[in-house]
Amino acid sequence: MSKQRFFERMEDLGLALTYDDVRLKTGYSEVLPHELSIASKFSRNIPLQIPVVSAAMDTVTEHTLATEMARLGGLGIIHRGLKPELQAAHVAKVKNHLNGLIENPTCVHATDTIESVLNRKEEEELSFHSFPVLDSENRLVGILTHNDFDFCTDTSRSVQEVMTKKVISAAPSTTLAEAFDIMQKSKKKLLPLVDDNGLVAGLYVFSDVERVQSGQSANFNLDARGQLRVGAAIGTGDGALYRAEQLINANVDVLVVDTAHGDSKPVYDTLKAIKDNYTSIDVVAGNISEPESAKRLVDAGADGIKLGQGPGSICTTRIIAGIGSPQVSAVYKCSQITGPAGVPLCADGGLRYSGDITIALGAGAHSVMMGSMLAGTEESPGRRIFLNGRQWKYYRGMGSLSAMIESSSSRERYRQRDLSAERLVPEGVEGMVAYKGVLEDVLFQYVGGLRAGMGYVGAANIQELHEKADFHRITAAGKAESHPHDIQITKETSNYPGSVSNK
Ligand code: XMP
Repeated sequence: MSKQRFFERMEDLGLALTYDDVRLKTGYSEVLPHELSIASKFSRNIPLQIPVVSAAMDTVTEHTLATEMARLGGLGIIHRGLKPELQAAHVAKVKNHLNGLIENPTCVHATDTIESVLNRKEEEELSFHSFPVLDSENRLVGILTHNDFDFCTDTSRSVQEVMTKKVISAAPSTTLAEAFDIMQKSKKKLLPLVDDNGLVAGLYVFSDVERVQSGQSANFNLDARGQLRVGAAIGTGDGALYRAEQLINANVDVLVVDTAHGDSKPVYDTLKAIKDNYTSIDVVAGNISEPESAKRLVDAGADGIKLGQGPGSICTTRIIAGIGSPQVSAVYKCSQITGPAGVPLCADGGLRYSGDITIALGAGAHSVMMGSMLAGTEESPGRRIFLNGRQWKYYRGMGSLSAMIESSSSRERYRQRDLSAERLVPEGVEGMVAYKGVLEDVLFQYVGGLRAGMGYVGAANIQELHEKADFHRITAAGKAESHPHDIQITKETSNYPGSVSNK
């Protein structure tokens, strides 16, 4: 039975299914898990090397986790519980973590004192130590390097007394490969690009150039400038437009209109306003769970669609409001609209095991968004909690009472912006998840499970997974058979945290 027939029959019965209701059928396979491609897209113009995106939640994605997500080939969406300027600063930290060509390097003036440069470094939280030095007419006259700082004992001295004056520079058109060559030959770790008027038009730093040239960052999720990609959540209304402007100025790669009901007028108004004002930024909109909603968002110009109303581990929306559709059926039905339209679909929430990624993508999604599966990593915000001999991390819904009291963005996400604390109707809970260690190891297991699943299906890439995936519906007995049974597990594996999961 084809996937289409399977879901149509379920639909005829009025049944909607989720992860635990189904398993993928295995198929003839010529693909080895480590050889297949899992590259995908989050939105029309935002690729993913691995199809995993971290949730825009205050206990999941800030700059530390987003940086690591992109370094591992995925994408992080910085949450909007932060003030717009602070959220933009988180975006900037991810963007500035690595560089190819630095288009607007931070420069200092020859007459500045070293002390004033050090103060500026602290105030602006600049982590680097190299600055092109300009004269009063903003022409390049030297470079201030790490060494110049290290060997300067008197910080009242001026930059021109301390700086390195012998500078090798190159034309603004210099490519990364040419820069690598020039730096190798001249043994210089900095290469400023200077135009015909002597003005600085860019800067290459050797460590960045070498990383790109040697292929070390081949699996990173990098933009055309060699910087890590990052997304950020916005809400709706005028506040959202101001927030979008701050984020775009910080070079965010993709905006996510992040609401509990994506098929609502404020979302369409915001989508249109951003698209009218900024033609080159991708906007993903959500969340939805019905194909008619997907059709309206596609028609409104969304570059990606996020799907999931109430599947999340911390969500109570389905219970409190009585709405929503089990995730796997919702993914399949919406993918019938988004697929032909060329709009990537992200299955957001409700995943518990790596096999759920294969199922979500098999049903038609292009990526998955995870909250609880990433909240327990070292890189998520917040400290570890030691309780009952285990380590945990705090994790809460953005519609939990505490999140809504703390942040107007959370209230707005659940359309309760102007309500007082005692009038709020929470749609989420707060709690903790098991500490899982560093993101790299955690994602390795998730991606390993996806690769294994694709190998069983016989799909060499995500497109083939969409085409070849077919499903069984399973019963409670089938589910019990699927999990380990009739054994007391004495040793947990990191990809099957049996004793802390809620089967
Ligand atoms: P998981 O299952 O990965 O789900 O923890 C994360 C997703 O859940 C959504 N989210 C919420 N949904 N009430 C809800 O109904 C909430 O308080 C809440 N907080 C987050 C969100 O889409 C996230 O990506």
